[in-house]
Amino acid sequence: MVGLKELLKNVIPQNLHHLIPTSFDIIGSRNGAIAIIEIPEELELYKHEIAKALIKINKHVKTVLRKISGRKGIYRLYNFEILIPGPTEVLHKEHGYFIKVDPTKVYFSPRDHSDRLDIAKQVKPNEFIIYMFAGVGPYAVCICKQCPDVRQIIAIEINSIAIKYMMDNIRLNKLKGKITPIEGDVVYVSPKYYNTADRVIMTLPLGAFQYLEYGIKCIKSGILHFYHTGPEENPFKEAEDLVISTCEKLKRNCKIINRKIVRDYAPRMYKIRVDAEIW
Ligand SMILES: C[S@@+](CC[C@H](N)C(=O)[O-])C[C@H]1O[C@@H](n2cnc3c(N)ncnc32)[C@H](O)[C@@H]1O
Repeated sequence: MVGLKELLKNVIPQNLHHLIPTSFDIIGSRNGAIAIIEIPEELELYKHEIAKALIKINKHVKTVLRKISGRKGIYRLYNFEILIPGPTEVLHKEHGYFIKVDPTKVYFSPRDHSDRLDIAKQVKPNEFIIYMFAGVGPYAVCICKQCPDVRQIIAIEINSIAIKYMMDNIRLNKLKGKITPIEGDVVYVSPKYYNTADRVIMTLPLGAFQYLEYGIKCIKSGILHFYHTGPEENPFKEAEDLVISTCEKLKRNCKIINRKIVRDYAPRMYKIRVDAEIW
């Protein structure tokens, strides 16, 4: 596939070639897709050419959005500049299932697809799972597709638009009865599920630590998947310390069983996951 650099080498002056983005996200499928790209200020003059080149690279792309901020607020959304206007609601396809999503209104990252599969492959039949910070529900859908005999997944999310998409995703993937979306704050919803879960998934890397007690208290005896960020030189230490000290405080036994770098988060920072057995 021809890259952006190749397509733009005669449009953008040579002294700026090193700034041409090498990566971008595509959300969607052959029914229509959105490209999301970060463009440095120095390439401001060429942003529309860059957007047109993206459409040339991927013929399913109808809409091009430029990130103009990091993820912000409780819903963890980017601010976008629209470079090529078009539909922002798409059907994203990964690992054989569909995720309906509008990334201007709800969180979704196609880059997490292998982490979803990694978690889903660990799930065993009859598990009862609490999925905190569930967004449009992609981890729950992936789990149900990998392990159709999972008993139930309680998916807690505060953004009402994400809940609406999660319901659509349950219908689209024929998972009614397996996934229960609950709109609300983990702080108020999770106490109903204390001491019930075989597995708790806490997918909020920049804030899950504030809710660790809630997550751990939901586990009867089972596995915690805790997301956090960590520096390149020692990515897991802070996350492990947080899990271990919170278990000590709650008088729970815990053993760290797995550590994983999920992906780059910022320069020299990773999004990471620590898995712990808790009983
Ligand atoms: C990083 S996103 C992950 C979404 C989803 N798990 C995914 O991977 O696509 C975190 C989600 O948590 C939600 N959220 C943030 N704080 C929350 C809280 N206190 N209770 C429930 N949901 C919350 C946000 O609205 C956002 O959709």
